[in-house]
Amino acid sequence: MITYSKQTIIKKDIDAVSKVLRSNFLTQGPKVPQFENKVKKFTGSKYCLAVNSASSGLYVACKALNLKKKDIVWTVTNSFVATANCIVLNNYKIDFVDIDKSTWNISLENLKNKLIKAKKQKKTPKALIVVHLAGLPVDPIELKRLSNIYKFKIIEDAAHSIGSTYYGKKVGCCKWSDITVFSFHPVKIITTAEGGCIATNNKIFFERMKLTRNNGITREKKFYKNKNLGDWYYEQQSLGFNFRMNDLQAALGISQLGKINYFIKKRNKIANVYKKKLKNLPLTFQKIGKNFSSSYHLFIIKINIDDKLIHKRLFDLMRRNNIFVNLHYLPIHLHPYYQKLGFRKNDFPNSEDYSNKSMSIPIYPSLSKKNMQKVINILKKFFKKFNEKKN
Ligand SMILES: Cc1ncc(COP(=O)(O)O)c(C=O)c1O
Repeated sequence: MITYSKQTIIKKDIDAVSKVLRSNFLTQGPKVPQFENKVKKFTGSKYCLAVNSASSGLYVACKALNLKKKDIVWTVTNSFVATANCIVLNNYKIDFVDIDKSTWNISLENLKNKLIKAKKQKKTPKALIVVHLAGLPVDPIELKRLSNIYKFKIIEDAAHSIGSTYYGKKVGCCKWSDITVFSFHPVKIITTAEGGCIATNNKIFFERMKLTRNNGITREKKFYKNKNLGDWYYEQQSLGFNFRMNDLQAALGISQLGKINYFIKKRNKIANVYKKKLKNLPLTFQKIGKNFSSSYHLFIIKINIDDKLIHKRLFDLMRRNNIFVNLHYLPIHLHPYYQKLGFRKNDFPNSEDYSNKSMSIPIYPSLSKKNMQKVINILKKFFKKFNEKKN
């Protein structure tokens, strides 16, 4: 089967994990801080915290903002549910902003208009979570400008975009945001099996997130509120959970990070082939502006035809041919859980239109030329037949 994305594991990765298996520490040994330091160096943030998934990371990041119950947090509906769930799990009030028709990321125009309206109603958000869909970053400078005016914090859900750049800086540098969260699930740019990382330049957020990751516990004497009773002593100072990454995962992460530039180069090469070979078909690709680069976690095609059946037909045809295309995403507000919270169909028309017409086709470093050509041939044949029927 040709999947829409998958991990690339070589002997070096296996050796790195085996070495940890033969060591004294499977969890909380030297590998996790080593991995954190390497991610920190790669992205350019001041602090970095490895966690057991990006879903955990988003929850931990949201909690670190220390907002009040029912404070409003906005995000996009065109994402995986974890982007929104972290808001609800923290008891904040959620709302969505629609996406842009050409980047499929948050629409900065819609955001601006929604903020103006919200200010009049005294309902501005205290935080905004943006998603860099497929690896394409949202413009951080415009976001920061709006956040300065309307006083909201920014969390970047960078689950798709380690290695992507904006204005010459890496996503995760946190120059224009408060916190950035990466995912290392196997379909992502690099993998730790399950896993994620949180980057920030804010020491207070970092210390709060460190507590939340570890059941609210600190073992750092300088932070103790009560008397240190001896070497066995530790304190629980807030409410948390076990969101820790382990040393096996971190060893894999270190090894994978060594190949990240190669992975991104390969993914970009494949994306360029698709863009060239599919350019005469009725398809749209994500528009990448000149100050941005994408690490291409996904290659998404959007069908430019207003015909409800055509999307399903193409999706089914691909799957029948063992090409495991996928939809990124079903809009979050249309899931039954979010419908129960009051969101309705047509609330975010750009996201819904995008979702009805899009699919992610295979892109990963080990995708062979033959398999890439198979994907291209099926797409060409499908639209040729469609045109013949139409005429
Ligand atoms: C945009 C986005 N955010 C968050 C997540 C959650 O990541 P994880 O699987 O590491 O929990 C995903 C997962 O695919 C995602 O695509």
